[in-house]
Amino acid sequence: MTKVGARPQFVKAAVLSRALVAAGLTEHLVHTGQHYDDALSGSFFRDLCLPEPTINLGVGSGTHGGQTTRMLEGIESACLQLHPELVVVLGDTNSTLAGALAAVKLRIPVAHVEAGLRAGGLGMPEEANRLVADRLSSLLFAPTAEAAANLVREGHDPSSIHLVGDVMVDALRTFAPADPEPFLVRFGVARRGFVFATLHRAENTDNPVRLVLLLAALDAVARDLPVVFCVHPRTRARIAAAGWSPRYLTIHEPADYRTSLALSATAAAVATDSGGVQKEAAVLGTPVVLLRDRTEWRELVDRGWRHLWPQDGDLAAAIAIASPGRPLADLYGGGLAAQRIAAILATQR
Ligand code: UD1
Repeated sequence: MTKVGARPQFVKAAVLSRALVAAGLTEHLVHTGQHYDDALSGSFFRDLCLPEPTINLGVGSGTHGGQTTRMLEGIESACLQLHPELVVVLGDTNSTLAGALAAVKLRIPVAHVEAGLRAGGLGMPEEANRLVADRLSSLLFAPTAEAAANLVREGHDPSSIHLVGDVMVDALRTFAPADPEPFLVRFGVARRGFVFATLHRAENTDNPVRLVLLLAALDAVARDLPVVFCVHPRTRARIAAAGWSPRYLTIHEPADYRTSLALSATAAAVATDSGGVQKEAAVLGTPVVLLRDRTEWRELVDRGWRHLWPQDGDLAAAIAIASPGRPLADLYGGGLAAQRIAAILATQR
């Protein structure tokens, strides 16, 4: 039983589901309903040809405690109904945490895909979700060597750790448009002539002072260079609540997956606080200015792809000097992560 709930999990599940079927395994997708808008959920199921979830719990939004509680109850019922041999959880969202906890309480083994990533500190809700999901999992699928090393350092049983590569890079290789140019027409921008920006992490959106600082910085960039700013519904709501209006920036709906990849591939630079988008951009050859002070994808820093924006500084200047780093091709498993995971799961029966 694979647990999904939020946008990046649909991308990861798309490649994993195909590999599980190819390995002769039967999979039930259970959707928590954490994301429910067509732009964040339905469009991903269509574009990635994901099978319909066997169960959609429809938990929707809420406080972390309320949302996670509803997920726990729902996933427990789903497990009692479907009797999975194994529960697979993906990434670091509240859906990941609830899936791992509900399963382990029923003594169902848990496999965590994207295990061992650490940004450091508990300032982001995702870090707590990662730590707990890893502790509860008996199979730990690490996307990078550093993630695997983190798990060893934290005392996980080495036999439970498998360095398989990154399923999001598998997905990118499978779904990235061969010709990204047609995707740019809608935004009226030219290859390498714009910045692609996204902003949704709670530590940025839920602090009004920080949010307005970030928006003002993006607006200043947009004065001289087009910025394609694709906005998560939470961010849109917080912008309205802050009473902020742009002078130069145009606010777009969240991009669907293939549009996001096309924008990441062709932008002059990507400015984002997303874990997935920062990596996709770098893998596609576009430098990234990170709108956060730390990242769980540290190899992007080591290899010079990720440039930090000092928040009291000039974002336009940070974007102007952002440049491609050293090649990343050896880092993420060469597009075979899902296949490796499926092969290991097939031996667990
Ligand atoms: C979640 C993950 C984050 C991941 C992101 C991907 C957690 C703690 N965070 O953040 O790690 O990077 O997904 O997008 O799990 N909303 C809608 N429509 C939806 C879903 C949400 O309008 O379909 C709005 C609601 O106002 C909601 C807010 O967005 O309160 C936040 O949604 P939530 O599920 O809490 O987390 P994300 O910010 O999406």
